[in-house]
Amino acid sequence: MDAAYQRCINPSCGGNLPLDDTTFVCPKCGGLVDVAYDWSRLTPPNTFAAFESKWADRANPLNFSGVWRFHELLPFAEPDKILTIGEGQTILQRADGVASYAGMKSGCLFLQYEGLNPSGSFKDNGMTAAFTHARLAGAKRAACASTGNTSASLAVFCSATGLMRAIIFIGSGKISYGKLAQALDHGALTVQIAGDFDDAMQRVQQVARRLGIYLVNSINPFRLEGQKTIMYRVLEGLRWQAPDWIVVPGGNLGNVSAFGKAFMELAELGLLTRLPRLAVINAAGANTFYQLYEHKKLRWNQGNPDPKLIKGYYEGLERAKSKANTIASAIEINHPVNLPKALRALERCGGVVREVTDQEILDAKAKVGAGGLGCEPASAASVAGAKRLRKEGVIAPDERVVCILTGHLLKDPTATVAYHSTDQKIFDEVLGHRGVRRATFANRAVQVPNDLDEIIKAIEVYS
Ligand code: F0G
Repeated sequence: MDAAYQRCINPSCGGNLPLDDTTFVCPKCGGLVDVAYDWSRLTPPNTFAAFESKWADRANPLNFSGVWRFHELLPFAEPDKILTIGEGQTILQRADGVASYAGMKSGCLFLQYEGLNPSGSFKDNGMTAAFTHARLAGAKRAACASTGNTSASLAVFCSATGLMRAIIFIGSGKISYGKLAQALDHGALTVQIAGDFDDAMQRVQQVARRLGIYLVNSINPFRLEGQKTIMYRVLEGLRWQAPDWIVVPGGNLGNVSAFGKAFMELAELGLLTRLPRLAVINAAGANTFYQLYEHKKLRWNQGNPDPKLIKGYYEGLERAKSKANTIASAIEINHPVNLPKALRALERCGGVVREVTDQEILDAKAKVGAGGLGCEPASAASVAGAKRLRKEGVIAPDERVVCILTGHLLKDPTATVAYHSTDQKIFDEVLGHRGVRRATFANRAVQVPNDLDEIIKAIEVYS
């Protein structure tokens, strides 16, 4: 067995796969797999400061990358085999305006801006790792189902490296314009399925198996290895002090799974003693994880979450013909593929799950935008969730909270323009049917005649 390999997440199963296997399914029980390391045969760092020395050598692309400068914590590929396009140059920003909105004390709320990645979302952190693995495995084509960001990231990596052909599956009408534009412009083969993300996710797995195409959805454990580095950068931004809370939107539950794994490994390596708590925020219109975790009390249960509970819940959705439905299209997902891994992360980090309405999401998004760099609706669920948890008293006002902003503002111009629009018809068309009633923090465009005096008057009145 190599020092890095793939291992079933269920500790009592014992199934494993060689490093270059691309099925990503436990051969014994059919469950999810992790990338596992035999640390005794590797050279993990014993201090965080080891990573800082790499800042001085940014001419080396592996040190420039915000993912690969932490290579020793995801050591599944030799340095000369790594593929990077300069991902992970993101920032942790103290956001006092947003803190005050969420009911937190000044200096206690931070935003981790993953929208600054090359394709505009956190997915590039995972894609560089999956791409590296795909090349190790000799893949020529890569596929994903997507609500838009995974597909944009895959398309960018394929076009920037020229190494693979991107094939993307999207639900028709389910992807925002910014993301669709990326897939098309970067030359991905775009397959629009008459269905939603959950349908596309099922199909892409069947197709990938049948045609031997490399799958880059977050069921692929190498994706999650790359996404661990978001947490390393958060720690770096806080001078290696763990925050009290990480708040993250939940869709397919890849991020929360990756964050949990990052913290479990840091604890195992003796680099971190106190772990942050994790809060996952679902949109109320796509709240499977919230329902299962908070209401049905589904738990990790040492690798054996109650299958009857899960099956019963999904059968209920089926019977009610209930489909995911939220303005936060990135997390419009009812069947999260990483559910068991997310349960493990919450167990290890003392997690909670909450749901927020589209109204709360859009108001929080406007506050984020007004306070600095902006985000897409799904990302703002994290801020709306932090506000809720603060109101419930779960988060204290002086705790340190990091909200992950997963995608850039420009990803979904339709939702943003509709929120700020003076045109009631546009507002109703895009937002009204989702239960959004007001644009509390709208910044409305001022209509003026084409007349110099009138223009000057308007500016004097409004500024
Ligand atoms: N935020 C954004 C902007 C996303 O694009 C996604 C997922 C999430 C949050 C949820 O993250 O799946 O790790 O819980 N987007 C996927 C996609 C599903 O296809 O682009 P998760």
